[in-house]
Amino acid sequence: MTETVSYRLDGQAGMVTGAANGIGRELALGLAEAGADIIIADLPTQAEAAEETAAGVRAHGRRALVVPLDVTEVTSIEAAVAATVREFGRLDFLVNNAGINIRKPILDYTEAEWDAIASVNLKGVFFCTQVAARQMAAQGGGSVVNMASQLAVVALHDRSIYAITKAAVAHMAKTFALELGPQHIRVNAVGPTFVSTPMTTSMFTSQEFIEQNLPRIPSGRFGTTTDVLGAVRFLLSPAADLINGQLLLVDGGYTIW
Ligand SMILES: NC(=O)c1ccc[n+]([C@@H]2O[C@H](COP(=O)([O-])OP(=O)(O)OC[C@H]3O[C@@H](n4cnc5c(N)ncnc54)[C@H](O)[C@@H]3O)[C@@H](O)[C@H]2O)c1
Repeated sequence: MTETVSYRLDGQAGMVTGAANGIGRELALGLAEAGADIIIADLPTQAEAAEETAAGVRAHGRRALVVPLDVTEVTSIEAAVAATVREFGRLDFLVNNAGINIRKPILDYTEAEWDAIASVNLKGVFFCTQVAARQMAAQGGGSVVNMASQLAVVALHDRSIYAITKAAVAHMAKTFALELGPQHIRVNAVGPTFVSTPMTTSMFTSQEFIEQNLPRIPSGRFGTTTDVLGAVRFLLSPAADLINGQLLLVDGGYTIW
């Protein structure tokens, strides 16, 4: 063995979008436990929940900054990154976690619904990464993780627009890794299976959903926010220093058949 493997993020400052709730909150707390100061970036309407996440980060002895962010507006993204740099002097990693879904058959979607989902899940990821990467390039490097989904690689009824955006942000990891790699910025994606969060409450309270989907997961259980944290934390850590442009599925094998 020539070097020690590190899964730590000590001394780093990282932004998690959509960190007020669900998977994003777990990521903020778990990345703080790994040693990072955390910027909790979420919609202004989520300010109270964001402060709860911030309290959890501080309980790990790390600094927390709550910034209002609407990922669909580039001016809002620029303001959030500027606030981060004012407070912490740097931005070492970004987790593009904010996402939304509207479930319905393809024949029923409206243009407004396409715009809403694509603005958050796709445009938001592109421009958050672009603005963050400018700062990372200026300071000598950084790391980005896009929250994709198992639906980036397989189809499921009533989730067509969502799945298309998730395939796109998985591919975005490749396109960004190619261009930003020389500036020491890594970009990867994580693809979780179904996880119980505010986004999926209606699914997890449906016996029909559970009976249809649980047997499809060879590992025999749905995902947890901690499962997602494990993958994100790994990809951001020095242990993953040569992993770039990849989609890491956290799906218990859902997509293997
Ligand atoms: N829950 C699952 O089963 C599952 C599975 C695979 C992938 N994902 C992905 O994980 C991510 C988190 O999902 P979750 O289940 O925790 O959802 P959630 O609804 O619980 O949390 C999403 C967060 O994003 C924020 N957000 C929404 N629009 C925003 C915007 N325009 N700007 C800034 N923040 C915004 C919300 O306020 C919320 O805090 C999403 O990208 C989702 O697609 C979830």
